[in-house]
Amino acid sequence: MKDRFKLEQLWSWVLKVRSAAGDTGKKGGLQLGRFWSTVVAFLVIYLIVKWVIPLVSRWLTGLPFPLPVPGTLALFYMILAVAALYVYISFSEERLEEFLVPIRRLLLGLYGARTRTVVLAVIPLFIGWQVYSATVPKISSPTSLRIQHPSSNFPKDMEALKNPLMNPGDAEVDKFIEEAKANSVQFIPEAAEEIEKVKGKYDNILGFIPTEPVQTFLKDLKAGNINREKAKQALREKYLFEGRILYAMNCRACHGDSTAGDGPMADGFRLRPINFTENGTIETIVEGYTFWRVSNGGRGLPPEATPWDSAMPVWKADIPDEYRWRIIMAEYELAQKTPRQPEKLAEAEGKKE
Ligand code: HEC
Repeated sequence: MKDRFKLEQLWSWVLKVRSAAGDTGKKGGLQLGRFWSTVVAFLVIYLIVKWVIPLVSRWLTGLPFPLPVPGTLALFYMILAVAALYVYISFSEERLEEFLVPIRRLLLGLYGARTRTVVLAVIPLFIGWQVYSATVPKISSPTSLRIQHPSSNFPKDMEALKNPLMNPGDAEVDKFIEEAKANSVQFIPEAAEEIEKVKGKYDNILGFIPTEPVQTFLKDLKAGNINREKAKQALREKYLFEGRILYAMNCRACHGDSTAGDGPMADGFRLRPINFTENGTIETIVEGYTFWRVSNGGRGLPPEATPWDSAMPVWKADIPDEYRWRIIMAEYELAQKTPRQPEKLAEAEGKKE
């Protein structure tokens, strides 16, 4: 009964400290004690990391899905939470003693010998189970080979989809010609910085694009013999220029300067972006497929494509259609590849490659 005496002493300490802190223990509502309120605080922090942050992210971004906190980051948060709670508890001797009361009581068997036995058995079993499940070799991963270009959920009506910017309509070309004549060709706002650098250096703003179609078009424009076909080619070059800028802004970090899959972020992924300059990648798929992949990202892929999750973002919510087509144009050009032609369509048009 020596132990009991110690404990009573301890309790009187606790009560003294509590009354000193203005806490008589008789307040209305739930009184948890230091130990359980610490446990509850820990659980609340866990729930915030696990559920509240993703919910808030969804609300903030307006995306149709929550953005989960990555596992490693969640671990960091929880380690910090433990450290913070430890600092809080050990801030004063009294607080620490208060925290230890239920633990001491348990160890002394004051909650009953059976409770003590159960708790003392459950804790090592739980830790042992965690360690076991973390280290046991997984024979089941991954059970299927990854299919890089799954077609099971690829909407078939996209197969014949053509990049509208490769073949602008007459009205669009005519508008471009008029703008070029008046030297008032408009670029996308994202290109403003680049345009600012070359402004005033050329008779016609288009002059900074050095490629043959643009230079020929400008010469023709000066000579007054305008050819719609050539104007169309020059317009394509403008789209390509804009596409490269959008590519550098949105895709380069992962896919690299030359689309070789060697961007600064690429090393961070288990499933690296593949090298588009190699044969057998984007040149083997039709434009419509590329458009669909870029729009829906890794999340849009069916299970056979995701035994290792692809980090490719979903772009349809952030980049409008016309921009995505510009990027795809630039992507193929940087990779020096051409998209695969849909067989039936190409045959019908008599220009099978
Ligand atoms: C966060 C990194 C990241 C960013 C940013 C990113 N991608 Fe990807 N992308 C990937 C990964 C990873 C893959 C998966 C590679 C695979 O499927 O083998 C991928 C796959 C692709 C594919 C499919 C290739 C194929 O052969 O099916 C295309 C096309 C693509 N990305 C284009 C883009 C475009 C265009 C952008 C910019 C708008 C972009 N990506 C931005 C990481 C990224």
